[in-house]
Amino acid sequence: MNVPTTKPYFPPEDIEEILKGMEEILSSGRFIKGRFLSAFEEEFARFVGARYAIATSSGTAALELVYRYFDVKGKEVITPTNTFIATSNAVLFAGGRPVLADMDADTLCLDVADVEKRVTPQTCGVVLVHMVGFITPQIEKIRSLCKERNLFFVEDASHAHGASYNGIKAGTWGDAAVFSCLATKVMTTGGVGGVITTNTENLALFARSLRFHGEDKTRGIQDRIGNNWMLSEPQALIGYVQTKRLSEIVEKRMAIAKRYDEVFGEISRLKIFSLPGGATCGYYKYPLLLQAPLVRSNIIKALEENGVATGGSYWPPCHLQPVYKKEFGYKEGDFPIAEDILSRVVTLPIYAGMTDEEIAYVIDAVKRSIVITNPR
Ligand SMILES: Cc1ncc(COP(=O)(O)O)c(C=O)c1O
Repeated sequence: MNVPTTKPYFPPEDIEEILKGMEEILSSGRFIKGRFLSAFEEEFARFVGARYAIATSSGTAALELVYRYFDVKGKEVITPTNTFIATSNAVLFAGGRPVLADMDADTLCLDVADVEKRVTPQTCGVVLVHMVGFITPQIEKIRSLCKERNLFFVEDASHAHGASYNGIKAGTWGDAAVFSCLATKVMTTGGVGGVITTNTENLALFARSLRFHGEDKTRGIQDRIGNNWMLSEPQALIGYVQTKRLSEIVEKRMAIAKRYDEVFGEISRLKIFSLPGGATCGYYKYPLLLQAPLVRSNIIKALEENGVATGGSYWPPCHLQPVYKKEFGYKEGDFPIAEDILSRVVTLPIYAGMTDEEIAYVIDAVKRSIVITNPR
């Protein structure tokens, strides 16, 4: 059996709705700024519980746009080293300097004590990535730190569609939040796409202007330097249908994670990352921490030989990427927690349409990979 790491979820009725919508788009010829863009944005804002949702061409564009709103030019922005490099690259695109911080070993998210150490007079904001969809219980402390030091607080919620903690959804904790809707994410807008959520009207107006060449309220009049960061109508249509399906997608993914937790929580050489009580998580990925003497590369090889596709959770992290070593002089040992944990994390397949047979197959393959790589 071959089990992929992920697969978007489109039940037959959603495919039907999308095809019907596509027919409307094709016959009307309206490919941008139409009713599906508004429908997607309204539905997404309602789901998250934010006043505004602004769709963009990608999560990376959404990040740059938000950083531009907060005017990071010439200033420092604290971002985790354990994230996809776009979180910090977008700071560079907006003219700022990313300052990496270490993570907490239990939550995979930013560690507030490490963030505090890195705040300087040049710091203007902090970006928290909800890693794999976990909202860290440290979020209140990170938010308070930002408030006290007059820093903006942005959630990179690219993994966290439908995640919540203490009843509060990802996308409403920060001054703004950014979601990626890439094909591999918990939901997609048909391959690529992104969304910004915020309660700040000025940010929403700025984002709508910047994503369309800096056009203000008057058609054809540009009053700031913008870009083409639009989401098309076919993409918005898919995003709209996926957002309506999001609660179910999250529920299904949580049920699979629960099954994995029950089995892997009993195996002494594996450590699971438990969700705090009452939290929800769409499990963009399901991470497992390997304990010595298990070796990540051997486990991955054994799983892949059995047809189980695996991944990691950003190994190597940003500070060990050749480009950041070269650009910023980062080196091994700079972020000891990230280096220790991420070099031992393996992520397992998880997607809403996963069958019972596939889940059982993955569980069995993991157990076998432990025996094969460590016969004693
Ligand atoms: C944490 C994180 N931030 C930002 C991005 C960038 O999003 P996109 O690929 O939609 O530009 C991604 C993923 O791709 C991501 O995982």
